[in-house]
Amino acid sequence: MMDRNADAPWSKFDPEVYVDNNYRTPLEVDLKIVRLLRDHFSRCFAATAPHSARGVDVGAGANLYPALSMLPWCEKVLLLEYAPPNVAYLERQTSPGGLDATWDAFWNELRGAPAYRGLDPHSTVGEIVRVERANLFDLDGQRRWDVGTMFFVADSMSECPEEFQRGVRCFMNALNPAAPFAVAFMKESQGYQVGEHRYPAYRVNESRARESLTPYAAELEIHDLQHTVRPGHEGILLALGRRNSAIATP
Ligand SMILES: C[S@@+](CC[C@H](N)C(=O)[O-])C[C@H]1O[C@@H](n2cnc3c(N)ncnc32)[C@H](O)[C@@H]1O
Repeated sequence: MMDRNADAPWSKFDPEVYVDNNYRTPLEVDLKIVRLLRDHFSRCFAATAPHSARGVDVGAGANLYPALSMLPWCEKVLLLEYAPPNVAYLERQTSPGGLDATWDAFWNELRGAPAYRGLDPHSTVGEIVRVERANLFDLDGQRRWDVGTMFFVADSMSECPEEFQRGVRCFMNALNPAAPFAVAFMKESQGYQVGEHRYPAYRVNESRARESLTPYAAELEIHDLQHTVRPGHEGILLALGRRNSAIATP
């Protein structure tokens, strides 16, 4: 029997353990991802007025770096997340002055590009980033954003190929035509442990990632980052591009 999204213990997800496992001590691979995000968004928004876009990070969990990477171009950033403990974590991080020092190492990489330099993430996050409890599968194309990120979500929420495809489609359908996006997948993940609980994953490789994203993407580039962060996966795939103008399908 395959573990489906609805079967996993999302209400027991422990964000502090997850941050300890993944982000408290920044890994070189994440710092590299942040530099790639920074350069991608800087390129895509080169001709756009700052603070004019509306951004979304889907399945934000306990990771603030995708949201930080969108800050210079956004008037608002929405963090959508399903697991109640992660929603509570994100609400603490986005309350005035609530952003943990954990995220400073990632901001330091972002500051390598001019667009980020004049911003103080500790005040800006509290001003423009908001959190909403939502299910990725309910994004049906009615609400759309100008820039979006989805990190380790469609691949790390279910074992089912159909749910992976549906997760990618729902995310892409939430983006306006030409919206810059970044999507990350654990490569060939066999699932992951957070504290006492086990969470499902779908085994994505580069060709599956490309196949799922291509119908919705322009200027797609996939970076195969050969770095394992734990046993049970084979690296990280980072897909960067822009939403094409293909009509959204339900
Ligand atoms: C592996 S974590 C990734 C978290 C974070 N984006 C990161 O980069 O570390 C997977 C996330 O997907 C969220 N998630 C699982 N099912 C979801 C759903 N149906 N809709 C939205 N988010 C979901 C989980 O709660 C969790 O935060």
